[in-house]
Amino acid sequence: MELAGCAHPGKPGGPVPPDVETLRVAGARRGLLAGCAVQVHHLRDDPAYAALVAQQAGIVVDESALKFGPLRPSPTEYFFDDADYLFEFAKKHKQKVRGHNFVWHQQIPSWFASYVTSANAERVLVEHIEHVGGRYAGRVHSWDVVNEAILLSDNLPGGFRKSGWQVVLPGKDAAVPAYIEIAFRTARRVDPKAMLVYNDYGIEADDAASVKKRAAVMALLRNMQSRGIPVDALGVQSHLTAGSRDAFGPEYAYGSGLRAMIAEARRMGLKVLLTEMDVNDRKLPADTAARDAAVAATYGGYLREALADEAVVALLTWGITDKYTWLSYDRKRDDKLPQRCLPFDSQMNAAPAFFAERDAIDGAGHRA
Ligand code: G3I
Repeated sequence: MELAGCAHPGKPGGPVPPDVETLRVAGARRGLLAGCAVQVHHLRDDPAYAALVAQQAGIVVDESALKFGPLRPSPTEYFFDDADYLFEFAKKHKQKVRGHNFVWHQQIPSWFASYVTSANAERVLVEHIEHVGGRYAGRVHSWDVVNEAILLSDNLPGGFRKSGWQVVLPGKDAAVPAYIEIAFRTARRVDPKAMLVYNDYGIEADDAASVKKRAAVMALLRNMQSRGIPVDALGVQSHLTAGSRDAFGPEYAYGSGLRAMIAEARRMGLKVLLTEMDVNDRKLPADTAARDAAVAATYGGYLREALADEAVVALLTWGITDKYTWLSYDRKRDDKLPQRCLPFDSQMNAAPAFFAERDAIDGAGHRA
């Protein structure tokens, strides 16, 4: 894939020239899957974006296409066009595919609240996973079976979020809500080849809230294992904030707690995936060079810590170009400047973050 002429071969500020190793190739040399989240509608309508994804990603996930809401326009209908496109794109470019996600509290369709009750919830959940997981069985590297089930501020036993699924399908075991057990067991039955992942955010740093949430997530995983519920991996979303050590105080850094969590997961026999990496720059000054340097430093520091443990087998950024990042509309900077948070900028030139990610991958040990 030829990108436009580069301003600085192999240096930030220009597209990556053909002789600079891509994230996917660098990752593959280490036995690591490096990739990104995509938006299928932009794969369709933006050839430069599609080419960049094809060039750089060894694994892809769609930001929305495989979620409950986008798949389910009604209780009896499924919309697979976007998900099918993702799988066709990935097949064409020899990429692996992540499924995201069977169960989440967001992007729930409008009919859910009135249609799903404690009486039919298990049937709705099982049928959804059978239909969706069955359609792509054997073609999914890993499924985020349950996403973001922990929210300590809801004050439920175990720290569980009072989500729609928690309300209709709590079960009697406070340690592992019924909807989580049913989702994982059904996913295993429907697609035995897929790695089954519990995915969450806010478990990376060493501030007090992250420490507490991390403990609740690891307790859930231990309780699932002790009940024989099939779970293969922890998904660490890795939505990071640049300047954390300065902006939020020294405890808001990424290091000992992250390393300990990954090591604990490894000892439990779990793999770890960095599933949604990006670096929020809203705490940084407007100056582009200063922001890019701080964002790159955050990627580099975080990845050096995380990739030091061979349990980490995949790293995906949540998007590959600032052009389409969710952060620019969901986490706006006070000065309203677009975020500079991903390996490639809005013009799809390699940012310092690309080289920071590449260097961290190069420094990682080889995964068997
Ligand atoms: O596709 C529809 C379009 O038809 C409609 O015209 C438009 C306006 O309503 O909405 C479009 O759907 C949007 C969808 O993204 C696809 O672009 C939804 O409104 C919008 O809410 C949705 O946002 C996604 C968000 O999850 C949903 O909460 C973001 O793209 C996506 O990046 C974000 O990703 C989440 C992960 O799944 C879980 N971890 C956190 C992460 C960031 O929030």
